[in-house]
Formats: sequence, structure tokens, C-alpha cells
Amino acid sequence: APSEEDIRGIVAPLTSLEGPLLPMLHALQDSYGYVPQEAVPVLADELNLGRAEIHGVISFYHDFRKAPAGRHVLKICRAEACQSMGGNALAEATLRKLGIGWHDTTSNGTVTVEPVYCLGLCACAPAAMLDDRVAGRVDEARMDKLLNEAGA
Ligand code: FES
Repeated sequence: APSEEDIRGIVAPLTSLEGPLLPMLHALQDSYGYVPQEAVPVLADELNLGRAEIHGVISFYHDFRKAPAGRHVLKICRAEACQSMGGNALAEATLRKLGIGWHDTTSNGTVTVEPVYCLGLCACAPAAMLDDRVAGRVDEARMDKLLNEAGA
């Protein structure tokens, strides 16, 4: 697990920013790939905030991960245009197939599935993104292909 010293080294230089909590959380996620639990007391101390408040912020923003991700990250769009084109059913079918829930990682560590709120591909809904690659008009067959590529 990341040490308190390392965490402090990442967040302390950002204390002088206006509204430093979000930049700190982003910096931690950039370094570790997630926001370690161990960071909460350090942030509380640096920013003079309650731990509950920090947990609240981490939970509120969908971008922050509470555990390391799998080797691949699959994001499925849950915003309106994609929902109206069957995005919900696609997401449910995908999660069922993988046997996991949102934000979870398959037991072999290959894929983490996360929701995303618009990928800018509304015209080609429903949309998804595997690692850095976006995909439009994703039906179940196309999703199976993506999962195959990810080795799920
Ligand atoms: Fe899904 Fe815009 S709503 S890409």
C-alpha cells in the first residue's frame, strides 16, 4: 500500500491552489491509478477537512477509482442519447455477461467496467470506450468483440 509519506509528497505541493482537493485527488489517481484509502487521513490533515467530507467528494465524482483497475478499462456511456438508443440494456447485458457490477473488475483482473456520462459520440449512440479507443453504435455483437479484444 502507498505510504503516508509518498501520499503527502504528492498532495502537499498542491495545498496553495484554490480549491485544492480535486487537483489532489487527480494527482493521486494519476500516480496510483486509483485514490488509495490511505490518502483520506492525509488529505483531511492537509486541508483541515473531515474524513467524511473527503469520502463524499471521492464518491460524488465518477472519475475517482477506489481500487486499482484491471488491465483494461471499459467505459459504457450512460448519458441520455445513449440511453435512448438502448445503452442501458447493453450495459446490463455486458455486466451480466462479465458477472460484475459497475466499477468492478473481472476476477481474472482483465476488465474494469465504469460508467461514463457522454463520450461526445451521441450521433453514434450507444457509445463505449475501451481504454483510449471510442466505439459508436455498439450492439451486443460489437461489445462481444471489444470484450474479446480485452481478453475478458
Ligand atoms: Fe453517450 Fe453522448 S450520450 S456519447
